[in-house]
Amino acid sequence: MQIRPNFSLRHFNTFGLDSSARFFVEVSSATELTEILADQVWKHTPKFILGGGSNVLFTRDIDALVIHPAIKGIEKIKEDDLHVWVKAGAGEIWHDFVMYCVDRNYGGVENLSLIPGTVGAAPMQNIGAYGVEIKDVIHSVEAVSIQTGDVTIFSKEECQFGYRESVFKRDLKDQYIITGATFVLNKKPVLNVGYGDIQKTLQEMNVGDVTIKTVSEAVMHIRRSKLPDPAVIGNAGSFFKNPEIALDLYTDLQSKFPGIPGYPVGNGKIKVPAGWLIEKAGWKGYRQGAIGVHEKQALVLVNYGGGSGNEIKTLSETIQDSVEQKFGIRLNAEVNFL
Ligand code: EPU
Repeated sequence: MQIRPNFSLRHFNTFGLDSSARFFVEVSSATELTEILADQVWKHTPKFILGGGSNVLFTRDIDALVIHPAIKGIEKIKEDDLHVWVKAGAGEIWHDFVMYCVDRNYGGVENLSLIPGTVGAAPMQNIGAYGVEIKDVIHSVEAVSIQTGDVTIFSKEECQFGYRESVFKRDLKDQYIITGATFVLNKKPVLNVGYGDIQKTLQEMNVGDVTIKTVSEAVMHIRRSKLPDPAVIGNAGSFFKNPEIALDLYTDLQSKFPGIPGYPVGNGKIKVPAGWLIEKAGWKGYRQGAIGVHEKQALVLVNYGGGSGNEIKTLSETIQDSVEQKFGIRLNAEVNFL
C-alpha cells in the first residue's frame, strides 16, 4: 500500500476534473482497508472514499486521506435450478461484471450494460436504466465501518433502496466503505424489454431471437448513440434526478405544454423527464467555454476538457433556476458535489 501526498484525482473522476487529494491510497483487499483504518498514523486524518468517480463533481481539493477501493474478483458462490449467486469486489468495473453475467447467460443485469463506475459505487445510488435497478438483482452488500474497521453484511432490505438512493447516501453517509456485493441472477431470465427504446432498437437491429445478449447489445447501442463516453468527453451521466411532481401540477403543465411526458409512480405522483424540461428551457447543446449541456441528452452536463467543477456547478444552478422559472419545478442533482 503506497500513500501518495498531493495526488491528482483527474483520472479518478469521469468529469476529468483536476482536483487534488492531500493523501491518496489504493487498497486491494478488505484486509488492507482494515489495516489503513486501524493505523495510528492516520487515525485522526479525515477519510474520503472514492470509487469509480462516476457520480462526483469536485469543486475543490480534498483535504483528506482519499481511499480508493480496488478490490477485485468475481466469483459464483452458489446456485440452484433457477438462480446463481455471484459475488463481485467493489473495485471491479461495473460493465465488466455485467459482461461476466451476459457471457454466462445469467439474467438480470443486461439492461444495466455500459453504466460507468464500479461495483462498489453501484449500490450507493441504486443505479438504474431501461426499466431495471440494481435493487432488483442485489442480494447483499459487504461493507467495512470507517469507525471500527468491522465488516458488516447488509441485506437488500437494510440497504433501503429508493430511486437513486440508499441508506449509504442517507443515514449511513460517510460511515461505511463498500467492499463487495452479492447478486442473485436468473438462469431462466425474464427479459425486460418494456422500455420503448429497447423494443425499437431490437427491431432496427433485426434481432430475431431476444436473449440476454441481444438485449445487452441493444442497450449498449442506445447508450452509445445518446450518451457521451466519459473516456472522450468528461461527464457523470444524468446530472439531475427526474423530478416527481403532484398530479395537479402535472395536469396544469399539460394544458400549458401539451406533449410534456410523465409516468405515474404511485402516491398520486408523476415522474417527469428532467431532460425534456431542460431541453424545452433551451439548454440542450448549450456550450460555454469548456463546459456545456450534451447535444443529444440534455440531462448530461459535460466537460470538453479544461473546465472546472465550479463552472459546472454554476451552470447547473443556472439551469435549475431557468427550469423552475418556466415550469415551477426545482430539479435536484443526482451527482454528489464536493
Ligand atoms: N428527453 C428529452 N430531451 C432530452 C433528453 C430526454 O426530451 O434531451 C425525453 C426523451 O424524449 C424521453 C424522456 O425524456 O421521452 C426520457 O429520456 P431517456 O430515456 O433518455 O431517459 P432519462 O429519463 O433522461 C433515465 C436515467 C438514465 C438512464 C435512462 C434510461 C435518471 C436520472 N436517468 O434518463 O440514467 O440511462 O433513464 O433508463 O433517472 C444516469 O443515472 O446517469 C443515467 C444515465
